[in-house]
Amino acid sequence: MRIILLGPPGAGKGTQAKDLVTKYGIPQISTGDILRKNLADKTPLGLEAKKYMDKGELVPDSVVVGIVRDRLKESDCKKGYILDGFPRTVPQAEALDAALAEMKTPIDKVLSIEVPDSELVKRLGGRRTCRSCQAGYHVMFKPSKKEGVCDSCGGELYQRDDDKEEAIKNRLKVYMASTAPLIGYYKNKGMLATIDGVGDMKVILDRMVKALKG
Ligand code: AP5
Ligand code: MG
Ligand code: ZN
Repeated sequence: MRIILLGPPGAGKGTQAKDLVTKYGIPQISTGDILRKNLADKTPLGLEAKKYMDKGELVPDSVVVGIVRDRLKESDCKKGYILDGFPRTVPQAEALDAALAEMKTPIDKVLSIEVPDSELVKRLGGRRTCRSCQAGYHVMFKPSKKEGVCDSCGGELYQRDDDKEEAIKNRLKVYMASTAPLIGYYKNKGMLATIDGVGDMKVILDRMVKALKG
């Protein structure tokens, strides 16, 4: 199964993708995670991307399209995959269409996760992520057992640089301007399912599984 998770910052793309990985045994491909890994490793790509990411701007299309094109050729993608945070612009979606047409592996479904802005701001402000295993937490909605420590691996929990107020505001603005048009793009292709992203995380997963079956 090949799935795209579409939705604003904080909608729960990463949270839900991890449960879908467990459920379907297919990998999560998060361009944000790949860029942050490059940054942590201080690669030229990571250092270049940081300039955009810290401000909540999008990294240029050519950069992310190249990353995803290479990633989709890896063997673990044969069974399918979950794209999390890509595509994010119409040119990215067109480049993905072209690459998948060449590989003869079309996307099965695009899940558009809807959450109101006020809730997004709360989610992003309290998010914590494990530095070692990337597990996601929230200080109120999904706290770790011990503050600042990952339940699964004991790693250190950190707050993302772009989860500060100014960057959050800009990310929401950039989403509306550049990414939200993809909802219409995929609706026109008959590939879109809308998911109510408010509520218990497990209930939201059920909504997704139902949409993927339908
Ligand atoms: P990226 O890492 O993709 O960030 P994003 O789109 O802003 O999305 P987030 O990761 O912030 O949100 P999410 O939907 O994954 O939410 P999460 O599950 O963590 O991108 C970062 C940057 O990289 C971009 O700004 C850009 O610069 C660059 N980039 C990446 N891809 C790019 C591309 N394709 N093109 C160009 N540039 C690109 O949940 C958030 C919080 O809420 C967590 O704490 C979680 O525990 C909590 N939560 C989740 N679900 C619920 C729930 N149901 N109830 C209560 N709390 C919940
Ligand atoms: Mg994410
Ligand atoms: Zn961890």
